[in-house]
Amino acid sequence: MLGTATHNVPARAAAEFLGRHGRPPTGVWSAPGRVNLIGEHTDYNDGFVLPFALPYRIAVAASPRDDGVLAVTTVGGDGRPQQAAPVAIADLAPGSVEGWAAYPSGVAWVLRDEGFGGGADLVIAGDVPAGAGLSSSHALQCATALALLGLAGVELDEPAAPSRATVARWVQRSENDYVGVPTGLLDQTASLSCVADHVLFLDVRSGSLEQVPFDASSAGLAVLVIDTKAKHSHSDSGYRERRAGCERAAELLGLPALRDVTESGLDDALPRLPEELRPLVRHVVTENVRVERTVEHLRAGRIADIGDLLTASHASMRDDYRISCLELDIAVDTALAEGALGARMTGGGFGGSAIALVAADEVETVGKQVLAAFAERGLTAPGLFTAAPSPGAGRDS
Ligand code: GLA
Repeated sequence: MLGTATHNVPARAAAEFLGRHGRPPTGVWSAPGRVNLIGEHTDYNDGFVLPFALPYRIAVAASPRDDGVLAVTTVGGDGRPQQAAPVAIADLAPGSVEGWAAYPSGVAWVLRDEGFGGGADLVIAGDVPAGAGLSSSHALQCATALALLGLAGVELDEPAAPSRATVARWVQRSENDYVGVPTGLLDQTASLSCVADHVLFLDVRSGSLEQVPFDASSAGLAVLVIDTKAKHSHSDSGYRERRAGCERAAELLGLPALRDVTESGLDDALPRLPEELRPLVRHVVTENVRVERTVEHLRAGRIADIGDLLTASHASMRDDYRISCLELDIAVDTALAEGALGARMTGGGFGGSAIALVAADEVETVGKQVLAAFAERGLTAPGLFTAAPSPGAGRDS
């Protein structure tokens, strides 16, 4: 019933590269997808997030080219390759490449402007579930960034290398300005800066990072991820509208960002805003508080105590931020009814995945009931897996 990571993704990318190009790649770099434990739609409000990296990764096998061309092939889980039309890196401009290839091209576009404009052959393989709200596109972008930097002789964490935070900003710029999606810093930072056995407490405003221990299994617990397989068509416009609403609210309040509204200041702030913006602000302010409380519990080793905060976060996204959907609510409600300590949707919303904190010996039962609840309503069967915090992006070979 439960899915598992394939673990050989970098080796698969290397083998595919050898098969296509008749020589081994110069190197292989990979980056993980993520779940966000809590702290949703807070990143672009200068707030707090708490993601961890999944054991699922995207790997990029790469070699340099001396003609300034970027040639990208991706090999799907079925082994079928898709080749993007090769492009001259010097000619890249926002909008010049569309579809999946916009992600690696956008990274090449940003890195070119940062002084890393050499051509490359890239072959991509991965096992991050696509379209599941688990940041497969960010894993692809981060792995591409590491590969292109690596070909230029720059490896992360070496003395002269740009910091992981800087690379995260570059990747964000490629997504915002090249791909054209106004996302925040959560996903790139998670993919680049998470480490095994920890959740990453990021204060987006200050950039400060704390690796907070998160060992569910030694507490007899597991994080069950439920990929609802739902993706609603208004997810992009819904995201943009929520973000614009938050920015408008901050402006009306005369504040740099909603981060600056405190919990105790909420009662004073809300009446000063038009009715339709109030629930957005309430979500962001209370969500930041929930992240901080979650971190306090985890620092003290009280992992089981975070359950109610997760569930309250879901209610806030469902009722105030209005980004949940039938499938996510069914996943969360069923998990809770079966004894999960807490559950919430994770990621941007309007489909994608939910997470549930469950006693390890009840994972099977909860999973079965979630499958049954979806089947009863005639919905596509969700994908299920348990996940522990896994390593962030790096060089594999
Ligand atoms: C998406 C975006 C992130 C963040 C989340 C919501 O994953 O890419 O920047 O805004 O939604 O928390």
